Amino acid sequence: MAAEDIIAELRAAAPVIEPSLLAADFARLEQEIRRLEAGGAQILHLDIMDGHFVPNISFGFPVIEAIRRTTRLPLDVHLMISEPGRYLERFREAGADMITIHVEAVDDPRPLLGEIGRLGGVAGLTLNPPTPVEAVEPYLDDCDFVLIMSVAAGFGGQEFEMQAIDRLRHLRRVGGNDLLLSVDGGLNDQTIGLCAEAGADMFVTGTALFANHDYRRAMEDFRSLALAHKNIQV
Ligand code: DX5
Ligand code: ZN
Repeated sequence: MAAEDIIAELRAAAPVIEPSLLAADFARLEQEIRRLEAGGAQILHLDIMDGHFVPNISFGFPVIEAIRRTTRLPLDVHLMISEPGRYLERFREAGADMITIHVEAVDDPRPLLGEIGRLGGVAGLTLNPPTPVEAVEPYLDDCDFVLIMSVAAGFGGQEFEMQAIDRLRHLRRVGGNDLLLSVDGGLNDQTIGLCAEAGADMFVTGTALFANHDYRRAMEDFRSLALAHKNIQV
């Protein structure tokens, strides 16, 4: 799907609950994806960790390619890797529709965000909790969305860090209503409403979603929580 169409669909569908496959059963990945599709998932979040930028290793190109062959859903690839610029084309070829880079991983994100766009992808920029939110502000016009990390990148199942709320609120204020805002880490029925209230459009959920047997129900419940809090002005 073209980048503009993906963005338009996400905007129209917001709030969007975005499953993070990191918490899926990798021995049954195809079945997991089918269950997510049947449950109404509109996008899949893929966490790529290199053991260098973050102290954990997840999966790489062959797995992304296998997922690409399995589904037509947009693949949102979150790069937790050093030197992401070396691999952007390769990730696009493997099937990434959306590529998010960490502001901490590069000297200047602007050329890389531009390259993701030239490659026909949706460009995301993200930052870890200790990084000042001002680090992404100069690039709001260069990316299609900003991802607020509400845990330190590297592991699923961590506890939500409340400072993400202030960051979402701040970026919603400075970026205006058109800025697409995503949040990732520690999201569950306690924290999704807070993030929605603070301005998030997309909610990446791993542990809390896959802990359920009924993915449809869990995604619907999470989305209802987000919707219920969406219009509260803060
Ligand atoms: C953390 C990843 C997240 C992770 C979220 O480094 O970026 O996408 O999968 O998982 P939970 O919901 O378990 O915090
Ligand atoms: Zn992620």
